Amino acid sequence: MTDYAKKRLVLGVTGGVAAYKAAELTRLLVKNDIDVQVVMTEAARHFVAPATFQALSGRPVLSDLWDGQGGNGMAHIEATRGADAVLIAPASADFLAKLAHGAADDLLSALCLARACPMLVAPAMNREMWDYPATQRNVTQLKRDGVTILGPASGPQACGETGMGRMVEPETLVEDVESFWHPKLLQGQRVLVTAGPTFEAIDAVRGITNLSSGRMGYAVARAAIEAGAEVTLISGPTCLTPPAAAKTLSVTSAQEMLEAVNNEIPGCDIFISVAAVADYYVLNPSEQKIKKDAHIFTLELAPNPDIVANVMNLPNPPFCVGFAAESENLYEFAETKRRRKNLPLLAANLVQDAIGHEDNELILFDDDGAHPLPRAPKIVLARQLIERVAKLYQKGKG
Ligand code: PMT
Repeated sequence: MTDYAKKRLVLGVTGGVAAYKAAELTRLLVKNDIDVQVVMTEAARHFVAPATFQALSGRPVLSDLWDGQGGNGMAHIEATRGADAVLIAPASADFLAKLAHGAADDLLSALCLARACPMLVAPAMNREMWDYPATQRNVTQLKRDGVTILGPASGPQACGETGMGRMVEPETLVEDVESFWHPKLLQGQRVLVTAGPTFEAIDAVRGITNLSSGRMGYAVARAAIEAGAEVTLISGPTCLTPPAAAKTLSVTSAQEMLEAVNNEIPGCDIFISVAAVADYYVLNPSEQKIKKDAHIFTLELAPNPDIVANVMNLPNPPFCVGFAAESENLYEFAETKRRRKNLPLLAANLVQDAIGHEDNELILFDDDGAHPLPRAPKIVLARQLIERVAKLYQKGKG
């Protein structure tokens, strides 16, 4: 499987009010286990102090072409050696012009010329500056030069105007950078993922549910996006922010999840059922809050539909992946579940390892046997799962 070694990113921050968002971007990149070296222009330092970026990245900020303190005094060369990409965020109109014309009169512009790694640029400026013909010419030139342009987004601007020119939000930029690095194993495929728990109402305020934070399912959705897939995420109630590139549908009960899956499944190539679907729902839930009294209260429960079994029973089912959370006998119970549900691939985890945690351990079961994946953050496991999915999916087609 692919070795997901820690990536190194040079983050260039140029002079614009969106520089304050670059601080959050730095925090998120570091949180995503990316090694970040921040390089600021003189103009950027008018907006945010370098100490903020130093604290967030854990490294001194570079900004002076003539600062001979470090190494051989050639930071414009050294900064990008060993880096996996340069990201300029925010990129001002002035900096885009410099890049497009190959100017190299400060450290950031010089290292952009001296780099041997790919470059991504997230423009941020007033809408009129963005629309200005020279800016548009510069962007076209940069694309021709192989630079990846991220955004800009449209919306309210710091100047009080509304339009195109906002920097893409930091969370989305992190996803874009991660996607850029990952092999496009599922390019052009449509992937449907369910995540989180379902909630089955007892009355207006009470219900029964399963324990699930949604983290594993959201990580799978994100890994599929990184692999180039068009992803729909059907989520039970969670507190998580879905990946920006996913079409996300929120549901509450198993019945709602089934209906959403039925609506989305036509044309779908791969279905990954990570959701912890409640096995039962409450017959005749009360619309009003049931008053408490001293008597024993009995609930009548009826079995919920099995969503993944429904999909498997379609005339032309997509490639289906199940999950199993067990509290004991993981190998035996998981493989039995895979065979009973007739699934080509099932990812099994122990409830005590999996539910709610940032990390997990997975064992993948398929016709070739069991493939244990060691403890890792859920996004790392999700990427390994997607690699296996892509391999089996291609094998099934070929
Ligand atoms: O959300 P997290 O906190 O990150 O935790 C992740 C997780 C533990 C919930 C996840 O990794 C996981 O294991 N999900 C499956 C939970 C489970 O035990 O499912 P199950 O054994 O009830 O069902 C087996 C498979 O059938 C699953 O793919 C499930 O989505 C599916 N199923 C189950 C019941 C049902 N009515 N319809 C279904 O489609």
